[in-house]
Amino acid sequence: MKKKAFVLLLAFSMVLAFALSACGGGSSDGGDEEATLRVVTEATFAPFEFTEDGDDEIKGFDVDMMNAIAEDQGLKIEFINMEFDSLIPALESDQGDIIAAGMNKLAGDRAEKADFGDTYFESDLMLLVKSDSTLTGIDAVTPDMKLASQIGTTGGDYVQKLADEGKIAQGVVLNQWTDSYMQLQNGDVQGVVVDKPVGEAYLNAHSDIAKFVGEPFGDHEEFAYAVQKGNKELLDKLNAGLANMKENGTYDELVDKWFS
Ligand code: ARG
Repeated sequence: MKKKAFVLLLAFSMVLAFALSACGGGSSDGGDEEATLRVVTEATFAPFEFTEDGDDEIKGFDVDMMNAIAEDQGLKIEFINMEFDSLIPALESDQGDIIAAGMNKLAGDRAEKADFGDTYFESDLMLLVKSDSTLTGIDAVTPDMKLASQIGTTGGDYVQKLADEGKIAQGVVLNQWTDSYMQLQNGDVQGVVVDKPVGEAYLNAHSDIAKFVGEPFGDHEEFAYAVQKGNKELLDKLNAGLANMKENGTYDELVDKWFS
């Protein structure tokens, strides 16, 4: 008798616990509403992602693209700005769900640490110099020169390699692209190694002080968003959203908006 009552009580409390856990948590923010996905980026990479002076709002091609994908797939997203070399670690330590940062999915061991989606943009590296520079291209650099780029990027690795090989005096790898441009303007470095579309955006606003020299170089890049290793469900949704954007003209509209 006693045992049966105990079993009943146990069963009852389990049902109660289950019922409580099922309605708990969700009740405050509207039932089964999806959690907001954290999109991490580094926002000094105009026109892909950037902020304007005195404003925290992140704008750019990647922001519009991710918002369009999220809308298409019924996802809620928010953007979080951090340093470029923190982006992959952020996914690995669950500080972020998605990277959208003009990131080349083919570089280094990135694809071992995060799962990349379909390519949404292709790029190469270019050398940006001051408008009065006599430098003719990346092959003409000399061991007395310094070149700047961003830490953790393909450009950063490229200038570091040139320095290691003794082809330049120093690869100056900085946290923000804006610092690289500043170093060039100040004459602290003789050039900046930067992604072609990003250098072009800089030149659009600064054609009086800088120019590209030589041909594109480095490994051809494929930009893609990334998710945490194994999050196939989310990656499939993002890829489906991108495919829909390309089909319904939204993708082309955004290319027009940010790259013309
Ligand atoms: N495409 C280069 C890379 O993948 C640079 C990307 C920099 N992006 C940024 N949001 N700062 O390494």
